[in-house]
Amino acid sequence: MANTNFPLLFSPIRIGPIILPNRVFFPPWCFNWARKNGTLSNKLTDFYLDLAKGGCGLIITGCAAVSPDSLLYERSMKIYEKKHMRSFSKLCKKIISYGSIPGIQLMNFGRQSVTTWTKMPVYAPSAIPCPVKSKASIDPHYSIREMTMEDIERVKNDFVRSAILSVEAGFKFIQIHAANGFLLSEFISPYANKRTDHYGGSVRNRLRMVVEIIEGIKRAIGNEAALDIRITANEFVDGGIIPGHHEEIIPIIENAGVDMMNVSFTVSETTGVYFRRDIKTIGEAPEIDTANQLRGYSKKKLPFGYAGFVASLDTGERLLKEDKIDLIGLGRAQVADPFLVIKSKNGQPVDKCVWCHRCLFSFALKGEKQVFCTVNKKYKPRKAS
Ligand SMILES: Cc1cc2nc3c(=O)[nH]c(=O)nc-3n(C[C@H](O)[C@H](O)[C@H](O)COP(=O)(O)O)c2cc1C
Ligand code: SF4
Repeated sequence: MANTNFPLLFSPIRIGPIILPNRVFFPPWCFNWARKNGTLSNKLTDFYLDLAKGGCGLIITGCAAVSPDSLLYERSMKIYEKKHMRSFSKLCKKIISYGSIPGIQLMNFGRQSVTTWTKMPVYAPSAIPCPVKSKASIDPHYSIREMTMEDIERVKNDFVRSAILSVEAGFKFIQIHAANGFLLSEFISPYANKRTDHYGGSVRNRLRMVVEIIEGIKRAIGNEAALDIRITANEFVDGGIIPGHHEEIIPIIENAGVDMMNVSFTVSETTGVYFRRDIKTIGEAPEIDTANQLRGYSKKKLPFGYAGFVASLDTGERLLKEDKIDLIGLGRAQVADPFLVIKSKNGQPVDKCVWCHRCLFSFALKGEKQVFCTVNKKYKPRKAS
């Protein structure tokens, strides 16, 4: 039954073949907390279960690597072998037992992969090094090559295989990561894709890889899980994707067969500035109008999700009431307090995120090993078990 304080947030929503119990989701985070073989650690399991016990309707775990030769962090989650699948199946069952939906983000890291972890050159639509990852201080052996047609076929199959393993594990929601300057968004973006074959050039050609992956996954999993895609509304780089491009992009993607879309922002080189902004100056949900603009381009009226500087359920409820978006992601706010949803619903005080950005920069920019949170001491650095 809808909660009287947050009637819209606590109303269920259908996403393709599944129904989410409420409109709050945890957006995918790479915590660098998995075991080195890519399976779940106790720490990662604890966190996701806290979110489920805390009432978050959809928990998108991730980022999970689909290809053995593409990795962002040493302890990223992986989902390309049976052992990975088995490690997630208990988690999925438990999340469901608490009334939440388990989701997973599938990704190949493209030119933002790190050779230190894979011991192989990174590959991308075009051999244009990532300005951030190619820095000697981040990846001293970084080298890059353009993908061959064999690479393209293999990576497409990697996504489909990982989607099948995800469904076998019990995930009910699969998100294809086609945002933030990772492989699939590199194909979409004229900034990173300079190919002259039928995977480059026109919008339709740049979307071909994504469309073929969506179609392949849909064929393989049918209605076993909802299929979502995360796209970048604005890369904030010269020659990159801007919101207006999506008038042409979104209808092509939705016709390929996704059930939902998630809106994200930036590529590697613009992420730092984007996240470091002061919430007091920019206000909550600063890019919600852009997300709303993209939502307006959906001819099928698909549900859209937004995450970014949302601090509370009050804000989430307001955004739904203003009909800006359909689902609200709270990342940092739920890392600071994974019980935020249930506490807010019951009128209890929440451990508030202080927007110090420590979680992001703890590993991304300062070379430290794992995400940790200033407020939530349960997630202070310790060895992943
Ligand atoms: C530490 C950290 C790791 C993240 N990892 C991912 C990721 O693996 N995949 C992804 O799509 N977004 C990732 N994001 C972005 C989040 O999904 C989300 O968009 C972001 O946290 C903004 O929401 P918030 O302001 O509520 O935290 C990450 C963000 C942070 C801070
Ligand atoms: S580290 Fe800081 S910004 Fe990140 S979740 Fe914790 S309190 Fe929020």
